[in-house]
Amino acid sequence: MTTSVLVLRSPQEVADTAAGALVDLLGEVLAVSDRARLALTGGSLGSRIWASVLAHPGHAEVDWSRVALWWGDERWLPAGDPDRNDTQNDAAGLSRLPLDPATVHRVAGPEAVSSAQEAATAYAQTIRADGGGEWDVVLLGMGPDAHIASLFPHHEAQRVTDAITVAVHDSPKPPPTRVSLTFEALRRSRSVFLLVAGADKASAVASALADDADPWDTPAAGVRGRVETVWFVDEAAASHLVHE
Ligand code: 6PG
Repeated sequence: MTTSVLVLRSPQEVADTAAGALVDLLGEVLAVSDRARLALTGGSLGSRIWASVLAHPGHAEVDWSRVALWWGDERWLPAGDPDRNDTQNDAAGLSRLPLDPATVHRVAGPEAVSSAQEAATAYAQTIRADGGGEWDVVLLGMGPDAHIASLFPHHEAQRVTDAITVAVHDSPKPPPTRVSLTFEALRRSRSVFLLVAGADKASAVASALADDADPWDTPAAGVRGRVETVWFVDEAAASHLVHE
């Protein structure tokens, strides 16, 4: 299990480099497996990566019909709401990939189910029905408070260990109601790619990579890939890292 930090010159280079790594890894997975399983993220880089994937010549070699998608978290808003992570990913280019709609697993919104808990339970069922919650790649953005998915510092949603999904209430970042994969689920990935840019993230990046980091304070420290964890960070976000 390795952790690596790639320091890149700009947010665009973060998106482009992560997109290249994603395309390469999907090709490797699909060469030996019927299906690749990917959990996506919101945020600006979590969306920008899809434009970068489309611009990457290798994307045409990927059999996207065999790539199954979930989201690491979703804002509990109606389908198509412009503030939903999936809507933003689609608008940034995800919807232009030749995916199989049957394996694009979205979190049900309030137009379809009566509570975020119901959405979380239904989402867990779709995960169990299609792959059992083992990911090849989990993409994560990170907030300045070091939150990943919708697992925020000192928030009780972090404590859920007996489920793969959780309904998140009273999120410190709007909207207040969300559905998230739990740490238990996010840790079941071969690879974890963190996409981080901006000086406002510098302190969180340094905290998350510290040997004594506590996920309760710094949720980004709580997710590691089974094979690799790769941080794609721009120079501003890397500015508090101590070089050895
Ligand atoms: C949310 C956002 C959030 C985002 C990070 C990183 O659900 O409110 O998706 O979790 O992923 O804050 O966002 P940026 O990449 O825009 O910095």
